[in-house]
Amino acid sequence: MDHFLYRDGELHAEGVSLSCIAQQVGTPVYVYSAATLTRHFGLFRQALDWTDHLVCFAVKSNSNLAVLKLLGDLGAGMDVVSGGEYLRAKAAGVPGNRIVFSGVGKTVPEMRLAIEGGIRQFNIESEPEMRALSALCVSMGVTVPVAIRVNPDVDAKTHEKIATGKSENKFGIPISRAIAVYAEAARLPGLQVVGIDVHIGSQLTDLEPFRAAYAKVAQLTRALRAEGHAITRLDLGGGLGIPYQRDNSAPPLPLDYGQVIRETVGDLGCEIEIEPGRNIVGNAGVLLTEVIYVKAGEDRDFLIVDAAMNDLLRPAMYGAHHDIVPVIQPAVGAAVRPYDVVGPVCESGDTFRKGAELPEMAAGGLVAFRSAGAYGAVMASEYNSRPLVPEVLVQGDHFAVIRARPTYEDMLGRDSIPAWL
Ligand code: LLP
Repeated sequence: MDHFLYRDGELHAEGVSLSCIAQQVGTPVYVYSAATLTRHFGLFRQALDWTDHLVCFAVKSNSNLAVLKLLGDLGAGMDVVSGGEYLRAKAAGVPGNRIVFSGVGKTVPEMRLAIEGGIRQFNIESEPEMRALSALCVSMGVTVPVAIRVNPDVDAKTHEKIATGKSENKFGIPISRAIAVYAEAARLPGLQVVGIDVHIGSQLTDLEPFRAAYAKVAQLTRALRAEGHAITRLDLGGGLGIPYQRDNSAPPLPLDYGQVIRETVGDLGCEIEIEPGRNIVGNAGVLLTEVIYVKAGEDRDFLIVDAAMNDLLRPAMYGAHHDIVPVIQPAVGAAVRPYDVVGPVCESGDTFRKGAELPEMAAGGLVAFRSAGAYGAVMASEYNSRPLVPEVLVQGDHFAVIRARPTYEDMLGRDSIPAWL
């Protein structure tokens, strides 16, 4: 459930009408609902309330400081994958002991920055990374908690670009090599091995791949304990999918997911960490856009909107579906007609949907792309020199701009022309 509903004939984010935001902030603009974020975070906490746990929000899905602050204040930990994300989590007020550092290519400066600022745990993804971290810790005279990410070779049954748990993927250490890698980790100075980490992919709509991966983690926990390692934490990653289409069957809920965790690793006495991103913020955001032109093609009509693939990349990159809805509520039984909804960028890939069924639209009309809160603004660029899309957070009947739209001067001012040109 989210808080984007029609009220008095207009789509609202909680108590604020989207046309009011369009009028005051302009379009395109991302709009997030604080109540939805709070609700979704609470569902994960509830799903794990049977055990000691930390829900670490995957910062990559939405890294706006206001979103991080809202979740951090609710008690969320953060899963970060770069120095920049680490600093964002800290800037949002999240203490280092609630920040987990994941990612296959952490650099030494990034690791140093996190050690200096305080860190809950590094999720190590390779032997060279583990040795580099150990050497860094020795040079700094510290010991840091680590988990090792294992690759369980499980098919997550999701889009190939976001599946991470098969042996051909770059992530983690092959589970078959885990015993040897943990033995080396235990010998290396500066590292305190505390747990196991796994993440098999994103937008999973079936719980069975989670069950298969977590069963392997349980087995490995027992094997490592038999070797004398104190495994006290399991980081089970993120990945639970969301409904992108209102009319198809709903993916499993956080509570069902929590049950799978309980059934597979619940008897090990470990503290559980999870790293959901999309499920917390995906349906807590929409991308609001205005129709620039309605253009008649040979055999179809194009709705040319002022949002483009640079603002919301998912349809162009993954063929992703986002429901497109008019801001003005259509009358019951109103006729709909097909439009190809496209942006102004000079690529045919800048198509949000072919044949979207919408009521008759005209220039100046507003539509919203739903389920755009995760991997929306964070993946935006200035391609075609379109200023970065702004973001707004709604709470109840008020809203705030949480990232302003850059001016053309801001955008141009970042470049410099060398004196010798
Ligand atoms: N933990 C790790 C180590 C991850 O790599 C990811 C996502 C997550 C947690 C969060 O997964 P989530 O709960 O959000 O599914 N840009 C793509 C998604 C990329 C996901 C990358 N890793 C998209 O728009 O679908």
